[in-house]
Amino acid sequence: MPKGIHRRWALPEPALGALWDSILIDEHRKAQLLSQAIVNFTVRPKVSRDVIPLHGVILLVGPPGTGKTSLARGLAHRVSQVLKGARMQLLEVEPHSLTSSAMGKTQRAVSDLFSQSIAESAANGPTIVLLDEVETLAVDRSKLSLDANPIDIHRATDAVLVQLDLLAEQHPNLLFVATSNFPEAVDSAFTSRCDLIMEIPLPDEAACEQILRACLSGLAITFPDVAGLTRDADFADCVSACVGLDGRAIRKMVANALAADPQTAINPNSLSIGNLLSAARYAKEQRTKTKVKP
Ligand SMILES: Nc1ncnc2c1ncn2[C@@H]1O[C@H](COP(=O)(O)OP(=O)(O)O)[C@@H](O)[C@H]1O
Ligand SMILES: [Mg+2]
Repeated sequence: MPKGIHRRWALPEPALGALWDSILIDEHRKAQLLSQAIVNFTVRPKVSRDVIPLHGVILLVGPPGTGKTSLARGLAHRVSQVLKGARMQLLEVEPHSLTSSAMGKTQRAVSDLFSQSIAESAANGPTIVLLDEVETLAVDRSKLSLDANPIDIHRATDAVLVQLDLLAEQHPNLLFVATSNFPEAVDSAFTSRCDLIMEIPLPDEAACEQILRACLSGLAITFPDVAGLTRDADFADCVSACVGLDGRAIRKMVANALAADPQTAINPNSLSIGNLLSAARYAKEQRTKTKVKP
């Protein structure tokens, strides 16, 4: 595997489709995201950049655990389903592995990745590239002080921008899907190149309910008694207690509820609504306690 790419998928890939389906956000957002990605392949190759200056970059921003990475991967599958017949690939870039290169080598690693590995794949067919946690690669240079941060990182950001421009010109069948938990840390020259910046928010009450239901019904495949909890009079309280948690935290909270005591852990069928409610309240308490002040 070329340096900086940690996974490569031939599309379509049903496992990625399952990820897309597992993220419960309003359908309107999913449709908008999918349509923008499709436009990249149906319009960008055919319309001059003087008319519509598309770069082939979509950025998903939002708090950690809201489903950005899952959506980005799932999106690749959904696009490939629409553009049937095209031999599509998804490349997953690991920004941390590039920036952890020896000092002075980051810029080179970034340039090589884009100009060789990614360009090569794009030359062979439509390619989607996941740039997960892109703030590591495209750091907001205006917020970096030169003494606190190695000049290397500045150069890496420059290299990303130069390469993005080159690839955008040469490969209209290439789409970058970037994610960031910290949009304020992403360089504005990068965000200005994005064709769409979509915010993925914390789930609202209705979404919390959907996530909790999906999680419990998934669990009930193995432990059938769990299914009854969603019909409990106190289920609505569990849902309210989840508001403020992200999707990942809600699913983890259910695991914590299963670990309420050794009996429940040994026999998950005995999970009670009280276990769920305490776990949800506890998770929220911990979340507010450990929240980093901006
Ligand atoms: N809106 C959601 N609906 C259902 N599950 C979610 C949601 N958001 C997050 N999750 C769950 O949280 C986990 C982490 O999601 P991930 O895509 O890694 O989030 P992010 O990249 O935003 O940190 C996934 O396993 C996913 O199932
Ligand atoms: Mg992520």
